[in-house]
Amino acid sequence: MKILHCKEYGPIDNLVWEDIDSKEPEDNEVLVSIKAAALNFPDFLIVQGLYQFKPELPFAPGNEGAGIIKKVGKNVTRFKEGDRVYFMAPYGAFAEEACLNEFQVFSISDDVSFELAASYQMAYGTSYHALMQRGELKTDDEILVLGASGGVGLAAVDIAKAKGARVVAGVSTEEKAEICREYGADEVIIYGEGPKDKDASKAFSAELKSKSTKGGFDIIYDPIGDCYAEPAFRSIGWKGKYLVVGFAAGEIPKLPINLTLLKGASIVGVFWGAYTGRESEENQKNIADINNMLQTGQIKPLISKEIPMEHAIDAIKLIGSRGVVGKVVLVNK
Ligand SMILES: NC(=O)c1ccc[n+]([C@@H]2O[C@H](COP(=O)([O-])OP(=O)(O)OC[C@H]3O[C@@H](n4cnc5c(N)ncnc54)[C@H](OP(=O)(O)O)[C@@H]3O)[C@@H](O)[C@H]2O)c1
Repeated sequence: MKILHCKEYGPIDNLVWEDIDSKEPEDNEVLVSIKAAALNFPDFLIVQGLYQFKPELPFAPGNEGAGIIKKVGKNVTRFKEGDRVYFMAPYGAFAEEACLNEFQVFSISDDVSFELAASYQMAYGTSYHALMQRGELKTDDEILVLGASGGVGLAAVDIAKAKGARVVAGVSTEEKAEICREYGADEVIIYGEGPKDKDASKAFSAELKSKSTKGGFDIIYDPIGDCYAEPAFRSIGWKGKYLVVGFAAGEIPKLPINLTLLKGASIVGVFWGAYTGRESEENQKNIADINNMLQTGQIKPLISKEIPMEHAIDAIKLIGSRGVVGKVVLVNK
C-alpha cells in the first residue's frame, strides 16, 4: 500500500509518496481502505515539526478520512468487513490504508459520499463548539469571522447564519469575499495582507467597527491571530467574547489586557481536540446537530478541490500559500 511518509521534519518537499507493506490490524483495531481524507492546517505544521506534538518518525500526516473496513482485529465488536466509515486520528490519513482503534472510527450512511464524510467533521465540529459552547451564540448576535473562507472560518459563517446571527466576514481577497457572500455573510471586509503599522491597524479597527450595527461585535471568531488580532479585538462590543481558535497568519498575538476591562469583554480559548476527549458526550450531541443541519440543508460544507492522494505534497503547500478555500479533499481512486 502507498503512504505519504514524513521521514524527517522539515520542508514539505521532503515528504515521499511510497510503497510499504500493508499492516495487520491489532486485536482492537480495524484496517481501513481510505477513499478520501481532508486537508487541515495542522498537516502543514506537523510535517515541519512545528505542531504541538511530534509523532515518531516515519509517519503520514492527515487527521481525518473516510473509507471501507478491509479487516477487523479479533476483539472488534462495532464493525465488520465492508462497513463504510469516517475516522479521526492524530495522523495517518494520507495513505491508502490505516490501522485504527475501533473507537477512532464511526459509521457513515450509504447516502453520504466518502469525500463529504471526510471533509466536514473537524471544521464544523471546531466551529460549532467555538460558537455554541465557548461563544454562547444567540440568534440576535453579531459576529466577526476572520479567515472566513478557510476550513474552520467558512464553517463558522455557515453555522452562525444557520443559527440566525448577523455575520461579518474578513478575508484577504475579493475571490474569497465572493464565497463568503454565497454562504450568507451580511458584510465582507477585504483585509489583504493585514495592517502593517499602527495607523493601518487603527484604520482597520475603525473599518471593522463600522460594519457592526451595534458599535461592536458580540463574538469575534479568530483562527488567524498575528497582526489582525489586536485591531479586531478593538472592534469588540460590550461584554463581547473573543474566540481564540488559531494562528494561521503566523505570530501568536499579544493583547493589552486593559482592552478587556474597557469593554467588559472576554478572551475565550477554543480547543476542539481536547473537548472531544474531555467532553465526548457533549461533542457527540454537537456532531448530531451538525449532521441534522446537513441533512436538512441548513449548512452546506464546501469542497473546493479534490486532489489525488499521490499529489498530497501540492495540496499541503496550498495551506502555506493561503490557497485553501472551504475544504480540500485528497482522494484515492
Ligand atoms: N482551536 C481548535 O480547536 C482548532 C481546530 C481546527 C483548526 N484550528 C486552527 O485554525 C486555523 C485555521 O485552520 P483551517 O484548517 O481552517 O486552515 P485553512 O483552511 O488553511 O484556512 C486558514 C485561513 O487563514 C487565513 N490566513 C491568514 N494568514 C495566513 C497565512 N499566512 N497562511 C495561511 N493562511 C492564512 C487564510 O484566509 P485569508 O487569506 O482570507 O486571510 C485562510 O483561509 C489554524 O491555525 C488551525 O490550527 C484550531
